[in-house]
Parts: sequence; structure tokens; C-alpha cells
Amino acid sequence: MVVAGGQWGDEGKGKIIAYLALHDKPKIVARAGVGPNAGHTVFYQGKKFGLRQIPCGFVYENARLLIGPGVLVNPEVVAEEIKLTGTENRIGIDQRCTVIEPQYIEQDKSSRHLKGKIGTTGTGCGPANVARVNRTAKLAEEVPELKRFLADVPKEVNDSLRLGERVLIEGSQGFALSLTHGTYPYVTSKDTSASTLAADVGVGPTKIDDVMLVFKAYVSRVGAGPFPTEISQEKAEKLGIVEYGTVTGRRRRIGTFDLDLAKRSVMINGATQLTITCLDRLFKGASGIKNWKQLPEEAKEFVKKIESELGVPVTIISTGSELDNIIDMRAEKL
Ligand code: IMP
Ligand code: MG
Repeated sequence: MVVAGGQWGDEGKGKIIAYLALHDKPKIVARAGVGPNAGHTVFYQGKKFGLRQIPCGFVYENARLLIGPGVLVNPEVVAEEIKLTGTENRIGIDQRCTVIEPQYIEQDKSSRHLKGKIGTTGTGCGPANVARVNRTAKLAEEVPELKRFLADVPKEVNDSLRLGERVLIEGSQGFALSLTHGTYPYVTSKDTSASTLAADVGVGPTKIDDVMLVFKAYVSRVGAGPFPTEISQEKAEKLGIVEYGTVTGRRRRIGTFDLDLAKRSVMINGATQLTITCLDRLFKGASGIKNWKQLPEEAKEFVKKIESELGVPVTIISTGSELDNIIDMRAEKL
């Protein structure tokens, strides 16, 4: 299964990956997507983890954790997160990953175009991808500190799939930030749709069974660019929605659910299932609810409308930040 973000950011994907890993027990959780510009948050065993490189599926202790060759790696961030999560014995980083070097971060932060106009995260991702295209980038296999973690990720993932084992592919960045399909030029430095996420870890399109597209119950976005359903900060505050970016700490812009964007996102990602996160922020009565029956009527209507408009089943609903604040419709249907 590929898990992709449906709108702008990560839409609470970190928690969903953690839940799916603990619940579905995959053999491998493989990180795809751009790189350490992402911030995936997981609350686990009373601790908050803000992860930028290591898959959030680390919470399932039997899973092998991989970072695919399409993903940019910052060796310092990787080292910190391996330590934080205690995963040195089960992490594998593909030898072909592009390494983010200090000069790329410097360029990203000091460029008037990137930082000023586009509003990048300043993590060096764009300039590192430019270096890869120019064929001047350094690869993970050239970094001594990464030596012991190096792996052939496409081989491991495909071997596992051949044995019929479960593999969870963790995307990063939302669909609307795609370099190809998003609101160019206010986008990230690579495509972020499910096909590219699969390619990031070396899996061909015929091997993907499910695409889980994650939507937040409302929309939020950090950085500049068009945002059709944006509401004022005052209105967002009245709704009780104030958010800050995990990586940048910048206040996020808030908007209502964008059905047109969601339809296009479903189409291009080839979604087979949908997750809706943060339902409790929109409907306070949904907070912490774990089964469909107990949801407030207006929250049910909201979910049903999305499902019928998009024509794809909503299978997971998140109702709070704790890992078990989940309605798993897959389980309810059994
Ligand atoms: P970059 O990816 O750092 O080059 O930033 C390009 C644009 O994508 C900026 O608007 C960022 O705020 C946005 N962006 C990149 N990664 C994420 C993410 O993980 N969540 C939300 N926005 C992101
Ligand atoms: Mg994030």
C-alpha cells in the first residue's frame, strides 16, 4: 500500500502510518517522497516524535525500516532520528539516495527566489535535487557515517512483495505541492503523487495493490501560493484551528475542504481508499470517538458527502492525536 497526502501538507499522515504499521503489521515500512522538508508527527507511548526522515512506522518494532533511493537524505538528521527512535538495527538507507550537503541548505535559505518568493522549508531539498539533475550530487554510498546503514532498497522491497508480504510505502508532501501536478511555481522540488512515491522505493506500478489518500477534514498550507478555499485567520481562530508547521514553525494558512482539488487528487493518485484526519477539530463532538455509530450526525454527513463526491471509500477516520483515536471502517465492516 502507498500512503499519499491528498492536499497540501502531510494532513496528519504520520499518525496514520503509525496506526497502519501497528495494526496491519507490514514486513517493511519504506519512506518515499522528497526528503527532510517533511515533518511527520507521531505521539507514541507518551512521547511526541517529529520525524523528517525515518518512517513513522518505526512504532511497529518488527518492521524493517527503509529509505528509498528517490528520497534526499541529510546525514545529520538521519543520525539524530535513528538515535531518537532507537532503530539502528533495522534501518536501511539506499546507497543511491542523494545527500543534502551544507551548501544546498545555505542556497535554499539565502535565495530570494526560493526562500523569499516560494517560501521553501530551507532544508536544502530543491538545490539538492538540482544537483542530482546536474549529476554533481553526492550519493549516500560516499558518506562514511552512513556506511553501516546502506541497503539495496528496491531489491529488499521487491523480494518481500514476491513473498506476498505486506509493504507500507510512506509518502511525504501533499498532492498540491507536486512539481508536476501542483500549483507551480509554489510547489516542492519533485512529483508527490502515488506513482512517484512507488518509484522512489523502486516499485513498479503493477505491484501496487492499494493507494491510501489522506485528506484532512479542512485544508492547511505553509508557504506562498494559490489557495482557493482559504479563510481568514480570525475565522480559523473562531473555529478553533491554529496550526504551525512541524519543520519551519511557521503559522499555517487554513481553508475549508476543497472538493475540486480532492477530486483531481483522487484521479491522479489512483486512490483506492481514503483517510480523513482531524475530524475532531471540525466537529468537537467527534473527539476521541472510536466507532462510526458514536460519531455526531453532522460529522457522519460530512464523511458521507466526501465519500459520495469522490467515489472512493473512506476507510480510516482520525478523531484525535492519540494513536487509538481512530475509526477503522475496515474493521467495522468485518
Ligand atoms: P521545499 O519543499 O522546502 O522546497 O518547499 C517548497 C514548498 O513546499 C513550500 O511552500 C513549503 O512550505 C512546502 N512544503 C514542503 N514540504 C512540506 C511538507 O512536508 N508539508 C507542508 N508543506 C511542505
Ligand atoms: Mg508536516
